[in-house]
Amino acid sequence: MEMNQDIAAITDLILKAKEKARKETSNEPEPGLTQEVDWPIQCTVGPGLEGAIASETKIGYVNGAKGWLIYRGYDIFDLCAYSTFEEVTFLLLYGSLPGKAELAEFKQELVSHRTLNKTLRLIMGFPLEEMNAMSALRLGANSMRHEFTYMDQEEGRPSTSDAIGADEDSIPMETKPMGEEHAIYEFKRKAEKKRKAKTKEQQQLEDACGRDAVYHLISGVATITAAIARVHQGKMPIDPDPELSHAGNFLYMMTGKRPTPVEERIMDIALILHADHGMNASTFASMVVASTLSDIYFSVGAGIGALSGPLHGGANEEVVRMLHAIGSPDKVKAWMEKTAKSKGKVSGFGHRVYKAYDPRARILGPLAKFVVKGNPEAENLYQTARVLEQEVTATIGAKKNIFPNVDFYSGIVYSCMGIAPEIFTPIFAVSRVSGWTARVFEYLQNNRIFRPRAMYTGEFNKDYTPLDKR
Ligand code: ACO
Repeated sequence: MEMNQDIAAITDLILKAKEKARKETSNEPEPGLTQEVDWPIQCTVGPGLEGAIASETKIGYVNGAKGWLIYRGYDIFDLCAYSTFEEVTFLLLYGSLPGKAELAEFKQELVSHRTLNKTLRLIMGFPLEEMNAMSALRLGANSMRHEFTYMDQEEGRPSTSDAIGADEDSIPMETKPMGEEHAIYEFKRKAEKKRKAKTKEQQQLEDACGRDAVYHLISGVATITAAIARVHQGKMPIDPDPELSHAGNFLYMMTGKRPTPVEERIMDIALILHADHGMNASTFASMVVASTLSDIYFSVGAGIGALSGPLHGGANEEVVRMLHAIGSPDKVKAWMEKTAKSKGKVSGFGHRVYKAYDPRARILGPLAKFVVKGNPEAENLYQTARVLEQEVTATIGAKKNIFPNVDFYSGIVYSCMGIAPEIFTPIFAVSRVSGWTARVFEYLQNNRIFRPRAMYTGEFNKDYTPLDKR
């Protein structure tokens, strides 16, 4: 009974957060980022491709001015309140919520890919206990590719005749990159080829880069993360439990204990919240790799690499370290003054796209308050975070539109579930792998190799000086 009430209370706090979000942001303007693109497009681009439009998508929409996050037309608040990670992943991949039978089949597919004997055998040969967890995860995700060793056979290599796009070496550097009639890399759309009977290798390749590989990765990143978490605790990995949901099994494989329904629900919400987020750095990294017609394992490996940085997914780990370093709510002011003086960044604040309160933080903040109850150490961490939020908002936040981002409260939630900080960013990957694969899949339907240019500001016409004269 208490469990049910707790789950109802969690749903309630999400719906309250939704109401607050709508109230606080309803009058703000909407930027024009929701129409079909007639390529080539003119846009103002800042360093780091800020403002650049690189593709069209139907998967997800982030409205940074209002603080909206939409997956396939559904509001993140509703998905967190009512849905599950499996449903949301199906939605991201296929565009609509699954029916009962579809969901059952999809869940079964994910369950069937949870066991990774070859991959675990491979990566257990490395000193995982000493390795950075994200580095171990990248190793694991790339090693998963070798469960399909036929991909390394010659027949398994992608055919360039299937590619729409240009090899970068064929782009003449004197050619302007956009809109020129005779640019060499103007491409023709691939002519529909007559369908021939597929060879075994072609079929296997399709499996390896297609649906099965995607399911394999979505399940497998969770299995590898759980194995890394256990090895970091000095324990051996354990087998998955096919009876449990994705979130429940993930917790079980990390802790060795079947989670309570509340723990399972909280992890499910965390996974839903992190599943997709526009053309963020790790999604873009995955798409860039995929656009060369490399395979999806390399693509996800690239996403993991990008996510590991402290400016991206690594921030949640930093936040908990920062809160511990501050120590208590009464020390926030002094810490903040010191940080502002040294022009240091406060982890868990600011966002390239959100110039309003991040909707994910609107959910994770109250969720953190809910989970710290009865745990004095965690309550102190939460109260320190709350005071820090007020302090940042009142000082730099107001001037620069800086609000808490998704990473600010997630670490507190995970800590309360007994998860070590080094596993926070891998959890992000356990979720985001569904966004990476969905977006790669969508992009490959109309692939064009990514190839921006840099402005050369170096020198010309320098005389070569032989080594002994330098
Ligand atoms: N603390 C203090 N000041 C900040 C912060 C912060 N967290 N974030 C931005 N600012 C300041 C910048 O110093 C800059 O000030 P200036 O105009 O006086 O130079 C101004 O706000 C604009 O910030 P930019 O750095 O231009 O913002 P950008 O879009 O490039 O960076 C980023 C976004 C990387 C997320 C940044 O806010 C940051 O480093 N935050 C801390 C790390 C973090 O929490 N990352 C997680 C992001 S969410 C995610 O990836 C899942």
